[in-house]
Amino acid sequence: MCIRALSYIGLEAEDLDAWQSFATDVLGLMKVPSDDAGTIRFRLDSRAWRIAVDKGDSNDLTYIGFEVAGREELDAMRKRIEACGVTTNPGSMELRRQRGVLDLFHFEDPIGLRIELFYGATEVFEQPFCSPAGVSGFMTAEQGLGHVVLLVPDVAKSLDFYERALGLRLTDVIDMTTPGGIVELLFMNCNPRHHTIALAGMASPRKLDHFMIQVASIDDMGLAYDRALKAGTRIRASIGRHSNDHMVSFYAFTPSGAAVEYGWGAREIDHNWNVVRYDTTSVWGHHSPIET
Ligand SMILES: [Fe+2]
Repeated sequence: MCIRALSYIGLEAEDLDAWQSFATDVLGLMKVPSDDAGTIRFRLDSRAWRIAVDKGDSNDLTYIGFEVAGREELDAMRKRIEACGVTTNPGSMELRRQRGVLDLFHFEDPIGLRIELFYGATEVFEQPFCSPAGVSGFMTAEQGLGHVVLLVPDVAKSLDFYERALGLRLTDVIDMTTPGGIVELLFMNCNPRHHTIALAGMASPRKLDHFMIQVASIDDMGLAYDRALKAGTRIRASIGRHSNDHMVSFYAFTPSGAAVEYGWGAREIDHNWNVVRYDTTSVWGHHSPIET
């Protein structure tokens, strides 16, 4: 296993002002000062940035960045990915500068999502993380930024790609009952976080169903829920506990359409984990506003 964590994501949104207000006032992220009018970036911890939002009309996820330990691991991953028949592209000096990493390369996954592998992220310990909304902290470190759930038309193809080319492991499977039938959800890990990537088997013009960030205390999560309600944010799912990672969370729609899961208290996994399956996504809660 060479990939250590999901370290950053890039989104595209038409309304950057709305995204900035949502990210700082509701989610409690720290905006990175910048002169670039076309991109806003946010911090969750000592990293220089974790979430970037570029101005654009796709309103979707545009790239994700996975971290490896160093140069040797980056070279090994490039060879492994190319051996699976995937074309990789070296990162230009300009791209490395934008991302603030020592080196990277990029390629596309089966749904055309740009994946960047890198080492050497920028740390800014001299500028301590300070949430504008008073969040006490986000759970990152060895578990990385959080997780992303991708909408994929062919789950078997995407699973094979993330297992064989990237070396992620299947954690568990949920067969989710929907009005349109059973949807298969596959959860994959690369560190103690229960899942870093999940694949939802459904065709969609969008790549991203939601991304998840995890806070340090249940009060951080509950206070964010209150801020979302007060701000008039569209809630996708009320507070609830997931059956597989045991995360207590709520889901809100971001200004660019995809949802964010705001969670606390997920269990961690280790090398003794056995793959299991579930018939339901939640133990309790996570009701849509229509149900409540
Ligand atoms: Fe999630």
